[in-house]
Amino acid sequence: MERKKVTLPDLSRKKEQGIPITMLTAYDYPLAQAVDQAGIDLILVGDSYGMVVLGYNSTVPVTMEQMLTACQAVARGARRAFLIGDMPFMSYQADVAEAVRNAGRFIKEANMDAVKLEGGREVANTVRAITNAGIPVMGHIGLTPQSISQLGGYRTQGTTAAAAHELLDDALALQEAGCFAIVLEKVPDRVAEFITKRLHIPTIGIGAGTHTDGQVLVIHDLLGLFDRFLPKFAKQYAQLHGLIAQALNEYKTEVETRTFPAPEHTFAIQDQEWEAFLQMKDEHSTQVPFAFADAHADTSRVY
Ligand code: KIV
Repeated sequence: MERKKVTLPDLSRKKEQGIPITMLTAYDYPLAQAVDQAGIDLILVGDSYGMVVLGYNSTVPVTMEQMLTACQAVARGARRAFLIGDMPFMSYQADVAEAVRNAGRFIKEANMDAVKLEGGREVANTVRAITNAGIPVMGHIGLTPQSISQLGGYRTQGTTAAAAHELLDDALALQEAGCFAIVLEKVPDRVAEFITKRLHIPTIGIGAGTHTDGQVLVIHDLLGLFDRFLPKFAKQYAQLHGLIAQALNEYKTEVETRTFPAPEHTFAIQDQEWEAFLQMKDEHSTQVPFAFADAHADTSRVY
């Protein structure tokens, strides 16, 4: 496995050569290590963290501090992948200067290589300011979960001619503002393909068909670790939830039947030391320190 760190020119080269870009989310050290070792190009510490790890009903409550902690863990686990921190709701919408400062925290405090934020033309100035500060930005249009109330639910975007046109304009504005790539979420495949062909930066699809320059999935969906729901666009490559349940049941049974811990999980004291201990215990049993006797009032226990 090639260990050279993935760079932005590598992504451009892949787009030029028609080689699909791979991207997955991760939120902790062990899964970041696994994704990195699998040779995935991009790791997104998505704000989906709020739903699949923290158990919120949407991504909206996620805070900067929660995101930074997850990003730090991922950065400790990944060596090769290009790392992207997802800016949480209200960390970039209110004020451009605040957005730049918060983007900077992902780089300075959490070792991310780039940030991602949601929105089209309305965030173009923010994207420009962050990239001017030297921080690469990934855009995200189509279904943007942080605006779920405004969108009226998790519905497919760009399904009318006018809406598809809006999406194209958003994509072009983000490219012009300096985004290095754009996530297209839950948009019709032909619309995604059209946008992909019009852009010189890569598109990464999630529920956007096969013609985007790359694909991303939430790792908990891919591994079958999140059982609340599975979006239509996600594919489960494993059912870890079932495996975990099986392992936990086995553990419970083995503890209850005293088959765990087995001898190989157990530590020994040499006979000679044990005999000496028993003798010491006998000598001490007549002069148990007051505090000890008090705290261990059950004097019936014999070792
Ligand atoms: O938060 C996230 O995981 C995302 C991906 C679905 C693109 O934004």
